[in-house]
Amino acid sequence: MSIHIAAEKGQIAESILLPGDPLRAQFIAENYLDEPVLFNKVRNMFGYTGRYKGARVSVMGTGMGMPSHSIYVNELIRDYGCRRLVRIGTCGALRAEIKVRDLILGLSASTDSAVNKIRFQGMDYAPAPSFRLLKAAYDYAVEKKLPVHVGKIVSSDSFYTEDPDQWKLWAKFGVIGVEMEAAELYTLAAKYGVEALAILTVSDHLVTGEATTSAERETSFKAMVEAGFAAALA
Ligand code: HPA
Repeated sequence: MSIHIAAEKGQIAESILLPGDPLRAQFIAENYLDEPVLFNKVRNMFGYTGRYKGARVSVMGTGMGMPSHSIYVNELIRDYGCRRLVRIGTCGALRAEIKVRDLILGLSASTDSAVNKIRFQGMDYAPAPSFRLLKAAYDYAVEKKLPVHVGKIVSSDSFYTEDPDQWKLWAKFGVIGVEMEAAELYTLAAKYGVEALAILTVSDHLVTGEATTSAERETSFKAMVEAGFAAALA
């Protein structure tokens, strides 16, 4: 067991889906995996391993924001040998041409967090995903005719920003979505030489103020989970 995960070595697959919400991990395990086995319930951060279309895969919640995400991703890679990590989550859209429910594959992850400023001693690092995983998710989305965008995202430390118009600066520089984890995921994957990707569904729109209904979220959630498996098992 690691400091925050109660699994034995070997209980977690090399491919793992990472929703923020542990109840989503449970839902995915119960509805998509064959023979799911619970490997963690410390802090209710449920994690399961099972089979998807015959392939061994895990799914585990990581909480909200980069500090929580970072703890789990560090331990999953270092202590349990995870090698393909796919965040599945929601984001806010920053550009009018992106619609609620659309899928976004994060091509780069800027951040307002100080974590990489500290890590890189004041220099800037450009967190980016695995092209191989991104291509697998993109090919899947195109084949299934899902509304998909590949573009720059920003990982924010604040859901409630002091300046409510802060997102406009990111939008001006081509960023299409805001969420709270991918920059740390991409940086850690690079550090440890493993592959990562963030797949997001647009849950709310900062330009139009529109938000998804729960029925709409369910349909786009399904698309995201399936694209997530396509990437994690690539
Ligand atoms: N901001 C940050 N994270 C988010 C948002 C948002 O508007 N929507 C979903 N995740």
